[in-house]
Amino acid sequence: MVKRPRRLRVNDGMRALVRETRLTAENLIYPLFVVEGKGVVNEISSMPGVYHFSIDTLLIELDEVIQLGIPAILLFGVTNKKDLSGSECYNPDGLIQRAIKAVKERHPELLVAADVCLCEYTSHGHCGVIKDNKILNDETVELLVKSAISYARAGADIIAPSDMMDGRVKAIRNGMDKHGYTDVAIMSYSAKYASSFYSPFREAAQSAPSFGDRKTYQMDYCNKKEAIREVELDIEEGADIIMVKPALSYLDIINEIDHHFYIPIAAYHVSGEYAMIKAAVEKGWLDEKKAVMECVISMKRAGADIIITYYSKDIARWLREEAYGLKELR
Ligand code: PBG
Repeated sequence: MVKRPRRLRVNDGMRALVRETRLTAENLIYPLFVVEGKGVVNEISSMPGVYHFSIDTLLIELDEVIQLGIPAILLFGVTNKKDLSGSECYNPDGLIQRAIKAVKERHPELLVAADVCLCEYTSHGHCGVIKDNKILNDETVELLVKSAISYARAGADIIAPSDMMDGRVKAIRNGMDKHGYTDVAIMSYSAKYASSFYSPFREAAQSAPSFGDRKTYQMDYCNKKEAIREVELDIEEGADIIMVKPALSYLDIINEIDHHFYIPIAAYHVSGEYAMIKAAVEKGWLDEKKAVMECVISMKRAGADIIITYYSKDIARWLREEAYGLKELR
């Protein structure tokens, strides 16, 4: 007798019945870039379809995000108030602090995650304080704690440290608890690799390092066991959600972590992964909707619970169209 797996692929209904992985808008976090000024909506050249928003235009953008059923955003501040130690990151009246306040005032139900890192605020573009060309870990952690507390004070629901310093999750947890922000969650960039796929973001956030690279703090992409150790540490230190970044070239890491730990996993579909698809679509080489859905479903299939992607709005829209009878999507 011939075994016939094709029986379960025979038509739309049968395929839907046995489908193992589903994505909904509720799985998505939408990253956004905030700049100073008023009325700003500037497309980022390295990331077509992604914009710099001032706080007022950000609020308008969020009306649509909420209407699409996306539950959370991740905010990045782009400012020219930079100095050697990135002190703007804990200015109570800083750009992100004001943005968080404004967003929570207008949309209290929307989850606001704030990226905590120094690279958008340091004049040299590194994620930490520098002395004699070295990134100082513990001195950096102190500043990150101050930044996290000030974002929590402004109303952030989730603090997302992306710096990769050692011990920062524990320090941030302790600092926030001491100030009464026990309900603010930590989504830690736990397995963050030193990746070429961040370069469009660095243009968007004006955060490229002015010398050297990030290899003394971000992970070597040849390593997998190290990712497990990093995640283990972050869980011990108090992370509520852990993250793998980038996503597509690291599906094995997501999968391994999914087998090892019982904690929500976020996969960051980063700027370079976004830009690659955009560029191929512009050339007419890929079908955007099909390519994007295949990529993000693969992240969920690997074990991610949450997908952070610049495609969030498109995905939510496509999923909605599907609900109205277009059959091609998952
Ligand atoms: C800040 C940070 C970066 C990204 C998220 N947070 C850049 C970097 O580490 O160089 C990258 C996000 C993306 O590429 O979409 N440290």
